[in-house]
Amino acid sequence: NSSSAKPELVRTQGVLWVSSEDARIRGYDWQINDDASFQSFLSSQGWNDADVTVVESNDEQNEFFFPGFVDTHIHAPQYPNLGLFGSKGLLSWLNEYTFPMEASFGSKSDPHNKDNDPKHTSPESLRAYDEVVAKTLAHGTTCASYFATIHVPATNALAALCHKHGQRAFIGRVCMDNPDQCPSYYIDQTADEGLNATIRTIDYIKKLDPNGTLLNPIVTPRFAPSCSNHSLDGLGKLAASHDPPLWIQTHISENLDEIDLVQQLFPESSSYADVYDKAGLLTKRTILAHGVHLTKDEITLIRERGSKVAHCPSSNSALCSGLAPVRFMLDQGVTVGLGTDVAGGYSPSILEVARQASLVSRVVQYSAEYQALMGNKTSDGSEKLLVDEALYLATRGGAAVVDMADDIGGFDRGMIWDAQLIRLGTSVKGTTTSPLGVASLTDRAVQSGPVGNIDLFGNETWQEQIQKWMWSGDDRNVKNVWVQGRLVHSKDE
Ligand code: GUN
Ligand code: FE
Repeated sequence: NSSSAKPELVRTQGVLWVSSEDARIRGYDWQINDDASFQSFLSSQGWNDADVTVVESNDEQNEFFFPGFVDTHIHAPQYPNLGLFGSKGLLSWLNEYTFPMEASFGSKSDPHNKDNDPKHTSPESLRAYDEVVAKTLAHGTTCASYFATIHVPATNALAALCHKHGQRAFIGRVCMDNPDQCPSYYIDQTADEGLNATIRTIDYIKKLDPNGTLLNPIVTPRFAPSCSNHSLDGLGKLAASHDPPLWIQTHISENLDEIDLVQQLFPESSSYADVYDKAGLLTKRTILAHGVHLTKDEITLIRERGSKVAHCPSSNSALCSGLAPVRFMLDQGVTVGLGTDVAGGYSPSILEVARQASLVSRVVQYSAEYQALMGNKTSDGSEKLLVDEALYLATRGGAAVVDMADDIGGFDRGMIWDAQLIRLGTSVKGTTTSPLGVASLTDRAVQSGPVGNIDLFGNETWQEQIQKWMWSGDDRNVKNVWVQGRLVHSKDE
């Protein structure tokens, strides 16, 4: 529920119906709760059994429908590096792990990809892209904003795989042309080459999905240090030349060394955010990842431009980047969603990111940087993102970041059916058959099968069940996933 001041999870039981034409929620009736009332509902609509596909949640298994997750920041080609990030921080990790992996998505015979032929993408690269899309869907991510690599064929292949799997996605060819900051083996030879390659992926994606039902191209300067001014300006102009303007994504203020570097490289700019603003890259359709160390003025500028922030707490902790001031940004009116930032982040799960967002928000008050941003007032505890709010950021927050707050992220009338069926599993009920309870727990593990793994003891309120899900759930709880009304993932019983 987004209408209250603080987001609040509300459970409703009954029937919700979705049109097979446009996959939008047409209505709901919370009075229907048995076969007889369902049959009379069908006849009241003039429908019979053959006109509808019924999907039921199973109360015994503590199942419920939940809006699909939105991952507002993920690097698809870094998926093979999941869990590999060392401890030396962003800039050394990029050189040691990230650039070599991303470079492998190109062609050996044509490393800079003037050739558009998909045969230049290796089977390993295609497998990694196939896997990341399947895996994020299996974790309930129905919409993702992907960074790909500099390579046109591999980027187009990622778009085609999202289309095939049926995941809603923003797909960006990464632009990086600064020879002082990019490795010689992984770089756009010139800014114009990068722009032209970007245009080729945009054209491909628009042809693949002309109505933009599932796919959107997104202009993707990697981050300021990787890009020349010519490239940043050109990308800003490219985005603005489309109607409606193209989406833009990049990184901002993730790491203190990175911020120093930006100051050295762009002495004419007053701040990191100003570098992007001068290039026309801070728009209503811009997703800025991280924003860990933004100043108050930068946050104000981002709010004024209507740009959005992807909060990536798993990555921020893994890469020793810092604690992002999420409550402050929200209070300033910035739209915030969650991002896994695979593979700076170690998990493809937005549920994991929701719990990391909540954990970080519980300790951020002890950071001197946060205290200074808050004017050194004593914390009133309001910086905490509790379960309802973390799950809000994972769904409606992410939807607002991609400007689809009226379409996805919740189950309001008129919204699109991008949803997951969650199974927590059966509760332990009744008396145990052995003094230690071993027999009944074993029986239960066998009965609940591979789907559903949360320990429930039968006395939890629904809110407590959701808390257990957020803190200890994973892809074993995701039974089915739909995007645009289509079943795109199903877990065997
Ligand atoms: N900044 C520039 N490139 C990257 C990247 O690939 N991952 C993260 N986390 N930050 C970046
Ligand atoms: Fe990132």
